[in-house]
Amino acid sequence: MMLAVASGFCFVIVCARCIAVDQAAGHASRVRRSEDSGSAASAGAPTYVGKQVCRECHPQNFELHQHSGHADTFSRSVDSEIAKKFAGKALDAGNPYGVFHYEWGSDGLQTRRAAGLNQDPFSLQYAVGSGRNAMTLLTLIDDTEADAAGIEHRISWFGSHGDFGLTPGHVGLTPQNETELLGNVVRDNSVQQCVYCHTTTGTIVGTEIVDLVADVNCEKCHGPGSEHVQQARQSETPPPFSVGRDRWDFEAELQLCGDCHRLPRNIDPAALREYSAELLRFQPVGMLRSECYLESDGQFMCSTCHNPHQDSKAKSTAAYEQDCLACHQSDSDAHVACSVSPTSGCIECHMPATKFEQGMVFHDHWIRIRDAE
Ligand code: HEC
Ligand code: HEC
Ligand code: HEC
Ligand code: HEC
Ligand code: HEC
Ligand code: HEC
Ligand code: HEC
Repeated sequence: MMLAVASGFCFVIVCARCIAVDQAAGHASRVRRSEDSGSAASAGAPTYVGKQVCRECHPQNFELHQHSGHADTFSRSVDSEIAKKFAGKALDAGNPYGVFHYEWGSDGLQTRRAAGLNQDPFSLQYAVGSGRNAMTLLTLIDDTEADAAGIEHRISWFGSHGDFGLTPGHVGLTPQNETELLGNVVRDNSVQQCVYCHTTTGTIVGTEIVDLVADVNCEKCHGPGSEHVQQARQSETPPPFSVGRDRWDFEAELQLCGDCHRLPRNIDPAALREYSAELLRFQPVGMLRSECYLESDGQFMCSTCHNPHQDSKAKSTAAYEQDCLACHQSDSDAHVACSVSPTSGCIECHMPATKFEQGMVFHDHWIRIRDAE
């Protein structure tokens, strides 16, 4: 059972790398209305054009997206400003790993353990995560046991507290060999999914990613755009592509966002039943058990509160409260209003910011009445 290797960042209950989502089929990874399905593919599959092309005609969405976490989820370490923070440092990962020494080479960041300073440095190939919460280094390796394998490095950078620290999920492990001293080995589906969720497209071949388009860009959510761009160059009113705000469907959106942010089907049933503390970082899982979702007939979805292009922190708490008040008004009987505080403070009482490992903060998306502490 693969759960034995549970480590990791993104997945605590079920390790990030172990979830058996049928993502390879790409079924949920694109914004597309149900009546579109199939039609586009038959006329020769569209290809990826890159976000700079989208920028030409959609500068506003581009600007918003550029400042969101989605625009910075994956890069080569050589291109990562955060990876540079490691260079020249010696960081102690504690027993049994000891001190790691970091230096900057022509391919980016590399490291040596203090116990092996006479050996060749180990290249830390990719920077995963924007660093707002955290950034973890990933190196693809050749592995006789697997088609694809990588090492998730021991030490990460945490924007949450502005310091380095042990990669979450890496506490209390017993490394079996020299390689595991450098980090956790992730194999096959686990490493493929890691790349899937943090990039627009890319295929692991040996120790490289072929056709890599890093980050969660326009075309990860909207699908490859070549056909749309061609049509838009010929006409100012191109045929529908992917979605527009007014004909977007909550089921499709849930599948899209939940493909990476996790759905109940990705979670261990016992953890789900008890709503264990770790689940607060899986927003769709919380949302799906909220009365607001259950009782509002498809009117409650991620984009009720989030512009999918915008950084969630760029919006004020007061603005999120307006989203609540759009439904919960004392002068309307469509929905109940709060008897405790009918016009403000909604988020801190009903979706409180909660500390997670290494000081990372998440907002519990299970909106509910909480017991007074
Ligand atoms: C391909 C995977 C993927 C999909 C699909 C996806 N996300 Fe994300 N999302 C991520 C990753 C990875 C991060 C972490 C970014 C970072 O490293 O800071 C993230 C971060 C976020 C954040 C917090 C950071 C910020 O910029 O505010 C929000 C909010 C968010 N996503 C909302 C959504 C919504 C809403 C949808 C659906 C419309 C969605 N995401 C779809 C992978 C995805
Ligand atoms: C099922 C999709 C998925 C997989 C698989 C996945 N991630 Fe993530 N990752 C996310 C999402 C969504 C976020 C942002 C929200 C969150 O933190 O849950 C994220 C956030 C992160 C962050 C920022 C810190 C944090 O925890 O918010 C790091 C670092 C990270 N992932 C590294 C990795 C690495 C390394 C792997 C594989 C070895 C991996 N992730 C696998 C979806 C995924
Ligand atoms: C995380 C997924 C995600 C990413 C990344 C994303 N979009 Fe969207 N986009 C959506 C969703 C969902 C909608 C429909 C709901 C809405 O507009 O709130 C949408 C709507 C749109 C629309 C029509 C409505 C509007 O806002 O004008 C345009 C145009 C668009 N996106 C362009 C882009 C471009 C350009 C990029 C890249 C810079 C991009 N999108 C990146 C999910 C995404
Ligand atoms: C040459 C200009 C041009 C380029 C380049 C372009 N678009 Fe568009 N796009 C348009 C026009 C025009 C519309 C229709 C009017 C509108 O909704 O703004 C549109 C509409 C959209 C819509 C809403 C579709 C609908 O049916 O309502 C989305 C989503 C979108 N574009 C995404 C993208 C993405 C993603 C890219 C990059 C791959 C891109 N566009 C590149 C011009 C362009
Ligand atoms: C009722 C409003 C609401 C809905 C619906 C909603 N969110 Fe949020 N979300 C918030 C608020 C408020 C924050 C905290 C923003 C801040 O940092 O001030 C947040 C923060 C986030 C973050 C950043 C990490 C965190 O937990 O603080 C992610 C990722 C996220 N939401 C994803 C989603 C996804 C995916 C969906 C749909 C499944 C969704 N949200 C639905 C209100 C909402
Ligand atoms: C799309 C409409 C909608 C939005 C937006 C919305 N809710 Fe609700 N909410 C509902 C519905 C429907 C119910 C069920 C009771 C009712 O009909 O009033 C509900 C119930 C609740 C309950 C009672 C839950 C329980 O377990 O008894 C709370 C608390 C709540 N909402 C808080 C919020 C907060 C806080 C926000 C903003 C972060 C919010 N809601 C946004 C529709 C919404
Ligand atoms: C100080 C904490 C606090 C704040 C601020 C707060 N609430 Fe509440 N809310 C509660 C408590 C506690 C209850 C349960 C009251 C009871 O059972 O009598 C509640 C009940 C509710 C209910 C269910 C009412 C019912 O009769 O079933 C809704 C809906 C709700 N709140 C929405 C909101 C919204 C929207 C906001 C922001 C405008 C908000 N709350 C602000 C603590 C708060």
